[in-house]
Amino acid sequence: MREELPPEGPPHFEIRVLPDPAEAAIAAARELVATATDSFHDHGVFRPAFSGGSTPRLLFDALAGAAFRSLVAWSRARVFFVDERCVPPDDERSNYRLAKEHLLGPLGVPPENVFRMRGEEKPHRAAREYEEALAEEFGSGERAPVLDFALLGLGTDGHTASLFPGTRAVEETQRNVVENYVPKLGEWRLTLTLPVLNAARRAVFLVVGKEKRDAVAAVVRAEPGRADLPASLVRPPRGSLVWIVDEAAASSL
Ligand code: 6PG
Repeated sequence: MREELPPEGPPHFEIRVLPDPAEAAIAAARELVATATDSFHDHGVFRPAFSGGSTPRLLFDALAGAAFRSLVAWSRARVFFVDERCVPPDDERSNYRLAKEHLLGPLGVPPENVFRMRGEEKPHRAAREYEEALAEEFGSGERAPVLDFALLGLGTDGHTASLFPGTRAVEETQRNVVENYVPKLGEWRLTLTLPVLNAARRAVFLVVGKEKRDAVAAVVRAEPGRADLPASLVRPPRGSLVWIVDEAAASSL
């Protein structure tokens, strides 16, 4: 049986407020570089996982830019995804495509080091395949795979990854990856589950824009156990939780 989260939350919790989205992206890039350096030093490999949506593009462009591109040994990184839409990899909605065009391609990350969720596959099968890929990489023991860095976003409804309020995936405690039907979108998604997000060494929320301010305030202030605010359930008991937001997104804090 997997352990419950301690109510007091992660040992390291931090909110960083930056003037604008570009500065927030740079702060997130610095956070990733520091985590990569620690990971390579500690265990010889760096295993990040990236969410989708529009905000990660800011981070990807910063990491692929002149200021950061040489600071991470991307040829030795093993790149995973936090979630995916059930679409082919060349679809404009594909999280993999966003990462490929703005990060993996520009940085020349070896394709064999990139573990994408196969959104074109039947959702249940794609989830199973990714569960097996994680087991192959991290071992298939009782404990959840330990990502070095999990990049997360936030929806205005309090969702993160593809863990939407009121959907089955939010309650999942045994599987690491699930197919999740999201009625409000009328579509299936593939997503890592909370046990994996909470096993991460560093969980980093990158959130920008005025439209997110109420969700940021609600999630950051939420009491433990608010399943109606899935993002508030990300509290790594042995890791660190860092919120990187711009002033607009922080304006209700
Ligand atoms: C996805 C994401 C999702 C995203 C939020 C915020 O695949 O859509 O993983 O959780 O992070 O919806 O999206 P924006 O960055 O576009 O605001």
